[in-house]
Amino acid sequence: MLGNFTYYNPTKLYFGGGSVASLRDELPKYGPNIVLVYGGGSIKTNGIYDQVAAILKDCGKNVAEISGVMPNPTLPKVLEGVEICRRHQADFLLAVGGGSVCDYTKAVAASVHCEEDPWQKYFVRFEEPACPVVPLGCVLTMVGTGSEMNAGSVITNPDTKEKVGKVFENEDVMPKFSILDPNYTLTLPRYQMVSGIYDIFNHICEQYFCGADDNTSDYLSEGLMRSVIHSSRIAVKNPQDYEARSNLMWTATWALNTLVECGKTGDWMVHMLGQAVGGVTNATHGMTLAAVSQAYYHHVLPYGLPKFKRFAEAVWGIDPTGKSDEEVALAGLDAMKAWMEEIGVVMHLTELGVDESMLDQIADLTFHMDGGYKALKRDEILAIFRESL
Ligand code: NZQ
Ligand code: ZN
Repeated sequence: MLGNFTYYNPTKLYFGGGSVASLRDELPKYGPNIVLVYGGGSIKTNGIYDQVAAILKDCGKNVAEISGVMPNPTLPKVLEGVEICRRHQADFLLAVGGGSVCDYTKAVAASVHCEEDPWQKYFVRFEEPACPVVPLGCVLTMVGTGSEMNAGSVITNPDTKEKVGKVFENEDVMPKFSILDPNYTLTLPRYQMVSGIYDIFNHICEQYFCGADDNTSDYLSEGLMRSVIHSSRIAVKNPQDYEARSNLMWTATWALNTLVECGKTGDWMVHMLGQAVGGVTNATHGMTLAAVSQAYYHHVLPYGLPKFKRFAEAVWGIDPTGKSDEEVALAGLDAMKAWMEEIGVVMHLTELGVDESMLDQIADLTFHMDGGYKALKRDEILAIFRESL
């Protein structure tokens, strides 16, 4: 561990079947005016809404709602939610949904008492709140983003097609608590489940493929990756397997609550490529990552060869006997590709509605990061998108 870091995570987790009952312990800690935030209606059909609403009623809360939070939540929706919270004089925001609902609730929480333009302040200038943040909690229904235990909020501006992730430093933006009941994820459509699985895996990759020191975080990452691979194989065969789905839920949280980035720079370039694709196409987050990953990792492999070799051996069990370092590393990426195809992620951008004519715009919208093995230039970004078509 050659890097310095601060690690602190204030989110309390309640994990397991029936853990929604813990709302009865948490909600009384906050004032009476609650805003319940949810998405397009899945919680109404699978019964989660009724369970949460009953507890809110029992706790005597005065509840307003923000419904219809879309996947890849937008700035106009954030502004609409801010108005609802102001009118209701919200004491607490309860997000019930996936990463989109959770991210959205953080953006609203930081904007309710903000007198400036929240888009400019948080998502363009990347500033911190100068106002009180409305406290929030989360009941998670979709696994992947880690939003339940981090300070990230990804919002899309439909006018400019920018999809921007702000990672708040102010811990008040993080959920005070998150309820993680794996049963709540069992109604996810397969496409969303698989997308979430790849999102988990890639979060770990982003923090693993950087640095050259001997770092405990990398050993933790290898264990988490092996767990994702193992449980994903079970989950795609039988999505109702509680044990596999619970492991995926727990792994997702640890994949992106800053633990495995301790002492590391973080790469995050696959996410920048994927987010640019998402901003233009509104495609499902994890699938945008999957579509560009193989081209990206092949491109940076020569600059981080020892780590890619280690990845092949430690995560995919590649036998290095008789092989050059590069052959071992490439065999690791081949094994990863075979797994991606096995679980059924999107392997080509064309499947997400991207064509050659859109690549310049997507490349222009891509943020450039420099924490990985190679800081990409625009022509390299364009080449990776082209190879991913
Ligand atoms: O809106 P509803 O009707 O609820 O349907 C949702 C949505 O259509 C559905 N769904 C969720 N739980 C369900 C369910 N359907 C049936 N049963 C359930 N139990 O799934 C669809 C996708 O949900 P969404 O919340 O959009 O997915 P996800 O959790 O992948 O979140 C994606 C968003 O998170 C951002 C992404 O960019 C994207 O905007 N990210 C947030 C991060 C963070 N906070 O750190 C990091 C990630 O890298 C990511 O960028
Ligand atoms: Zn992600």
